[in-house]
Amino acid sequence: MIDYNYIEGNLFFDDLNIKNIAKEIETPFYCYSLSYLKNQYSSLDNSINLRDYEICYAIKSNSNQSIIKNFANMGAGADVVSIGEMKRALKANIPPNKIVFSGVGKNPNEIKFALNNDILMFNVESASELKKISDEALIQSKRAPIAIRINPDITAGGNEKISTGKAQDKFGISWKDAYEIYEYASNLPGIEIKGVDAHIGSQINRLEPFSHSFDKLKEITSMLKDKGHKIDIIDVGGGLGVKYKENEEPIDVKKYGKLLSEKFEDLDCKVIIEPGRFLTANAGILVTKILHIKKSDIKNFVIVDAGMNDFIRPTLYNAHHNIIPLKEPKKLENLKCDIVGPVCETGDFFAKDMYLKDINEDDFLAICSTGAYGSVQSSNYNTRPTIGELLINKGEYEIIRKRINEDIIIDKDIISKWV
Ligand SMILES: Cc1ncc(COP(=O)(O)O)c(C=O)c1O
Repeated sequence: MIDYNYIEGNLFFDDLNIKNIAKEIETPFYCYSLSYLKNQYSSLDNSINLRDYEICYAIKSNSNQSIIKNFANMGAGADVVSIGEMKRALKANIPPNKIVFSGVGKNPNEIKFALNNDILMFNVESASELKKISDEALIQSKRAPIAIRINPDITAGGNEKISTGKAQDKFGISWKDAYEIYEYASNLPGIEIKGVDAHIGSQINRLEPFSHSFDKLKEITSMLKDKGHKIDIIDVGGGLGVKYKENEEPIDVKKYGKLLSEKFEDLDCKVIIEPGRFLTANAGILVTKILHIKKSDIKNFVIVDAGMNDFIRPTLYNAHHNIIPLKEPKKLENLKCDIVGPVCETGDFFAKDMYLKDINEDDFLAICSTGAYGSVQSSNYNTRPTIGELLINKGEYEIIRKRINEDIIIDKDIISKWV
């Protein structure tokens, strides 16, 4: 959540009157502020004082080429979790030696492609994966650089669906098996041990879980070094939280940077940070139009033209997002309402029992803080279009993803010869 300001009754975002765009571009659409993206990156970069570190942008949070390229231009590497994300990173000119490949289920094609492109390292999540990477590396006459993702059994993250570091989560290798798997890795001919890795969850608003996880990473690094393994890289994952609502207090990024220094400055290792949400969440708004206002004794509904297929976080994670009108409210009376989309699912909502002032049909609303895990999770459910994305900069906008309308989606189907 950031402060949005109204000028002469209209909402401005990065010096642009959003209502003017909404009159030109078909709603709904995502809109991102370039200056906000740059400021977030710089604030993190400036907070880190380590001798050797890399900010590997977690592409999954927002994978638009313009967004990735902006971070690439600022010096970022990438954390990717699929061949598609790897191709996006490479296309945006992120050097392969700044790409880490995470994810619990890498397939043979993805392993082959990553090895072919000489990425910085694989963050490996199972013995089975290690063996397959080793076999492919031998075929390519290489040794694959790897870190093992440790599951430190730490509770963290804004919601159980975005917690990844507890023992029962599918991610990583359990703490007690960590040493054994490094021994196994060191005996595989196609593997070169490079580092250690952990990522404990997302939307983390306290320093303690990070501190705990960093301690575990330090401990395993020392233990592995003592046993003669060469550990050059410590990947601490992402997870830095952001402010979505008024009473939320995210971690001061300077304190996060200080913690990294306290824990790792005495180790002779490169530290990798994989932020996603921190860089992109509050850079984005989703602009939508009010189609209908349906009032009853029991409940009022404001039905908008965006649906859960465009933005799924409220229903998937029960996530709170502020929703504000593009036209500054003049009248004071509040309408208590659910803000819902047109999709045929009861779960198709953006807010419940929210108060909106002075709204009418055909007015526009901005769903705030939607730059991370927004457009990337969209679908065409109900044969709805893939909506457009815009980038704004110093009072101007550019389309950075074209809307894909329903005709194109329908054309992808092939009519079977049996029907
Ligand atoms: C391995 C890994 N790294 C980094 C991230 C980015 O997390 P965040 O957006 O919370 O910074 C994720 C997100 O789930 C992840 O799975």
